[in-house]
Amino acid sequence: MSDGFSLGIFYTIVRPEEKALFAAAEARGIPVERIDDGETTFGLDRPAHLPSVVLNRSVSHTRSLYATRCFAHYGVPTVNAPEVVEVAGDKILSSLRLAERGVPTPRTVIALSPEAAMRAIEQIGYPAVLKPAVGSWGRLMAKVDDAEEAEQILEHKAALTSPLHSVIYVQEYVRKPDRDLRVFVVGDEVVAAMYRRSADWRTNAARGASTEPAPVTDELRELSLRAAAAMGGGILAVDLMEAPDGLTVHEVNPTPEFKALAGATGADVAGKVIEYTVAVGRR
Ligand SMILES: Nc1ncnc2c1ncn2[C@@H]1O[C@H](COP(=O)(O)OP(=O)(O)O)[C@@H](O)[C@H]1O
Ligand SMILES: [Mg+2]
Repeated sequence: MSDGFSLGIFYTIVRPEEKALFAAAEARGIPVERIDDGETTFGLDRPAHLPSVVLNRSVSHTRSLYATRCFAHYGVPTVNAPEVVEVAGDKILSSLRLAERGVPTPRTVIALSPEAAMRAIEQIGYPAVLKPAVGSWGRLMAKVDDAEEAEQILEHKAALTSPLHSVIYVQEYVRKPDRDLRVFVVGDEVVAAMYRRSADWRTNAARGASTEPAPVTDELRELSLRAAAAMGGGILAVDLMEAPDGLTVHEVNPTPEFKALAGATGADVAGKVIEYTVAVGRR
């Protein structure tokens, strides 16, 4: 391309996803600028040279938040937009947003102090699920079956000094089958969907769940698109569970991995992501 268009990819490490994204851009003749999230600095004045659009692939929520804000400050659009990163990257803000938009989501109670935490758990009842407000790969989540277990987990959390653990996010434990659903949304399109099956109640692909393509029913498509739109739209991976009373959305990921999904479904996820990002850059 000779019109000076270039696509920045803001990343932490080059995973198979980033390799696929670089390859998809190259195959389309789109110049890519790799921007390492651990090396870049951001001043208040607009730098002389900037890409036309930035695809955020940082694995850090904090880095994603500030970087997308800085690029917006320079007038460079990002995928996803800063407001989307902010809400979807935080489970508390996401739950509020899903509830506001009438998207079915598990019952959730938030406590802002260790004192209130036990009350939040008792309000949800047992079993309850505790999650860090910011995090992924099912890390540091706990399924709590009774008050004794709850007190032990809260004691451990209180001993951790990170602010991440002083906020308690409690959710009802949803009696799903041995699987959940992952739906990849790009703009107004559902690109692919898969089941993630595991003996562990946490069915993350990163924890070794087995994956298989899932049929995209009208209900699944409609709900996933509504969940993505609730976050502000863009490239979003919607996590859903088959609750006894129907589908429920428990998470919407703003910077999703997709190796397992592309492998299970054969969908050209990287190609769709690049094409969408280029379209945003040319708007
Ligand atoms: N409320 C819940 N009830 C039952 N299982 C849950 C619940 N919330 C999450 N899970 C399981 O744990 C996994 C990880 O939870 P999730 O909220 O998606 O966090 P992460 O950001 O770590 O992926 C889900 O894919 C699902 O299998
Ligand atoms: Mg998840």
